[in-house]
Amino acid sequence: MKTITLGLLGFGTVGGGAYEALRMTEEQFTKKLGVKLKVKKILVNTLKKKRRDDIDPSVFTTNAKDIIADPDIDIVAEAMGGIEPATAYMLEAMRYGKHVVTANKAAVAHNFEILTKTAERYGVLFRMEACVAGGIPILNAITQVLQANKFEEVLGILNGTTNYILTQMTKYGLPYEEVLKDAQEKGFAEADPTDDVEGIDVANKLSILMALSFGKYVHPTEIPREGITGVTMEDIEKAKAEGKTIKLIASAVDNNGELEYSVKPVALPNDHPLAAVSNEYNAVFLKGNAVGELMFQGKGAGALPTGSAFGGDILNIMALSGGKML
Ligand code: NAP
Ligand code: HSE
Repeated sequence: MKTITLGLLGFGTVGGGAYEALRMTEEQFTKKLGVKLKVKKILVNTLKKKRRDDIDPSVFTTNAKDIIADPDIDIVAEAMGGIEPATAYMLEAMRYGKHVVTANKAAVAHNFEILTKTAERYGVLFRMEACVAGGIPILNAITQVLQANKFEEVLGILNGTTNYILTQMTKYGLPYEEVLKDAQEKGFAEADPTDDVEGIDVANKLSILMALSFGKYVHPTEIPREGITGVTMEDIEKAKAEGKTIKLIASAVDNNGELEYSVKPVALPNDHPLAAVSNEYNAVFLKGNAVGELMFQGKGAGALPTGSAFGGDILNIMALSGGKML
């Protein structure tokens, strides 16, 4: 049986979650695809941390070249975070002819054009499902199944950390700082949670979502943005009294050919489909000219939900590069 060889860049929440998701389904996907997966090397910051007992310690490396320049490695999957050196590593891997999977929305949003063009130039596949809305397969839906649509509107709750914080503040009156700490401990938050609470992470995700749904790339710093740090308990109580719920909303609307977009807290009427989306759950509500209204909902952060999307991209590339398609 043919073996596809993988190099992982990063083995934290997402890298570890994807490894676990793939380990749990190994028998199933090997049989289905007729191709085996071998994880040859994993890049980490330090070799001193305790890792999984079922991985030989020699698999871990602190030298990215061990993965990027290894001719045996077919797919490089990046979940290390940060714009650099992650972008440089992904570009270099593509130049070496490797397919690339990433969960790193900051790197993709800031470097969307060079990453997609480089993948095209070197004839390799580039997948990023885990970048937007964690476990929800929204990018696959938009770029595959919903291709026969012109999108009119895409609205989303795209950050698990802030939705978790707002939910806990709204439902239980818990203080912001306490819930943020809890979200960090659960592995939802970014390395620097400022990216979550200031809406930077959502702007990165919206930039990718707009590029793929409307074919218009907007640099994330050009997206008008407001996070949740200014949302007070008084705002939440006032919204409640008016039958509303405050959510951090990413919005992109095609207004007669003009794309209007923003990231900001919005008091949604309680009967709006996005108002009931709680905790680390994300949701995307969209309108396509053919399909009409659609709503996707699922866990937007955390090891296994994100590992599901990241692992799915790896398996999709395995299927396209030698495995059976169905
Ligand atoms: P994490 O838990 O902090 O893990 C990062 C991993 O990358 C660690 O294994 C770390 O090594 C390694 N690493 C970081 N910088 C490195 C460098 N310069 N050289 C070598 N190794 C390096 O992060 P995460 O939460 O998995 O997030 C990873 C990416 O996925 C980020 O782009 C994030 O935005 C995105 N993402 C996260 C989630 C989520 O729910 N957490 C969901 C979707 C997407 P050590 O283990 O040695 O520290
Ligand atoms: N920090 C991000 C969030 C991780 O809370 O949604 C998933 O992208």
